[in-house]
Amino acid sequence: MQNAKPHAALLASPGMGHLIPVLELGKRLVTYHGFHVTLFVVATDVSTTQSLLEEPYPNLNVVNLPLVDISGLIDPTATIVTKIIVMMRETLPSLRSAILALKSPPTALIVDLFGTEAFAVAEELNMLKYVFDTSTAWFLAITIYVPTIDKSVEDEHIIQKQPLRIPGCKSVPFDDTLGAFLDRNDQTFIEFKRIGIEMPMADGILMNTWEDLEPTTIGALRDFQMLGRVAKVPVYPIGPLARPVGPSVPRNHVLNWLQKQPNESVIYVSFGSGGTLSSDQMTELAWGLELSKQRFIWVVRPPIDNDASGAFFNLADGSEGAQKFLPEGFLARTREVGLVVPMWAPQVEILAHPSTGGFLSHCGWNSTLESIINGVPMIAWPLYAEQNMNAAMLTEELGVAVRPKTSASERVVSRAEIEMLVRKIMEDEEGFEIRKRVKELKYSGEKALRSKGGSSYNSLSQIAKHCEHSLH
Ligand code: UDX
Repeated sequence: MQNAKPHAALLASPGMGHLIPVLELGKRLVTYHGFHVTLFVVATDVSTTQSLLEEPYPNLNVVNLPLVDISGLIDPTATIVTKIIVMMRETLPSLRSAILALKSPPTALIVDLFGTEAFAVAEELNMLKYVFDTSTAWFLAITIYVPTIDKSVEDEHIIQKQPLRIPGCKSVPFDDTLGAFLDRNDQTFIEFKRIGIEMPMADGILMNTWEDLEPTTIGALRDFQMLGRVAKVPVYPIGPLARPVGPSVPRNHVLNWLQKQPNESVIYVSFGSGGTLSSDQMTELAWGLELSKQRFIWVVRPPIDNDASGAFFNLADGSEGAQKFLPEGFLARTREVGLVVPMWAPQVEILAHPSTGGFLSHCGWNSTLESIINGVPMIAWPLYAEQNMNAAMLTEELGVAVRPKTSASERVVSRAEIEMLVRKIMEDEEGFEIRKRVKELKYSGEKALRSKGGSSYNSLSQIAKHCEHSLH
């Protein structure tokens, strides 16, 4: 047989948080495991994806699936998760046609969490089918467990506010489960339950974690006794897959400023692709940063209760445009030590820079991995989705973060608490263990990806073998 490479079709749902890990998976399949990859992106233009690639990957092609108008299909107040799911569903016919139009038929289809309905296309076209949980094993466990929840568990967890017990895994504290998520009448819950039923129908489940990060949960997912139905499907921890610093990063003013700061002296503050705070919370955060007397970079967005200012979206305004949302005189007083960046900053480059010593983060899983692989300790400030679970894991289990005392989404965290948390991770003796531990995790993640014996490398090799077998 003439040098046949396995061909994987990857499907990424809308949003940078999903596209980034799926793209990183594609890059690893091509670079280390001899794959040819076609990456299908939904509602993201090819040039955005190409710009994330930074350099050409000859065996990785990006195909844009046309945007479908879903406005007539959903309630305009539906959650973003529901919108993504409906969008993915409506894209299936064009995915099918696009796969059929490829010169070489793909061996396998790998979809992210929101793409499991595409399994039907994989089955029809005789492809292996995998799902990539771009978050933690713990999140995967809750996803698969949700459909089995009965009335008594629901009463115990929702009415009595007891932690949600997942067999063999850490329990999820009431405050850290996904809120509306367990409301049986909520559309997000209904869709999520469906995903939890469909995931174990895959030929394998990939996760953006690694064996040494979540050994107990990964063990539970593999244990027939604990999560019965899942045992039939192999689980593959393949992380940490995170966006690397590109080879040709343009020097911008943020990185130039960072370059002039002392080693590990700057705390970076950012809430992911689109996270926002209330006006009151922004005021307290500004004061907390100022009082901590630490250097900072803060990605500022209009507050959630005051997003009417279109002018703020003009990046050319620079940090001055942000002053109207900040305490009077804040920019002037902190000019020597801080940098306010409107809307978006080169996060990966900031976290990889030696001057960065801490990250106040919403705990999106990409941000979390970017912090860990650069050995940067965190203040965990979750906002939505599975971010509360991520925050709980980072603080209580891994010991690489500190967290405001009660859920930051339910109250305004005071300036005094913020000042204390910032000092703790940046300089206090008390934060020493946290700083040490995150550096150990950084090495653990690097080890998992090594091509000689790395557990995540080995996981992807197993998938590659499976795909090669099905070629013959
Ligand atoms: C969403 C979910 O809410 C999250 O919990 C889930 O794990 C993934 O999807 P999102 O807000 O996209 O999260 O956050 P995250 O996963 O952290 O991804 C954001 C990406 O955007 C990161 O790669 C980050 O480096 C990048 N980013 C964000 C920037 O480059 N600059 C910014 O200013 C903000």
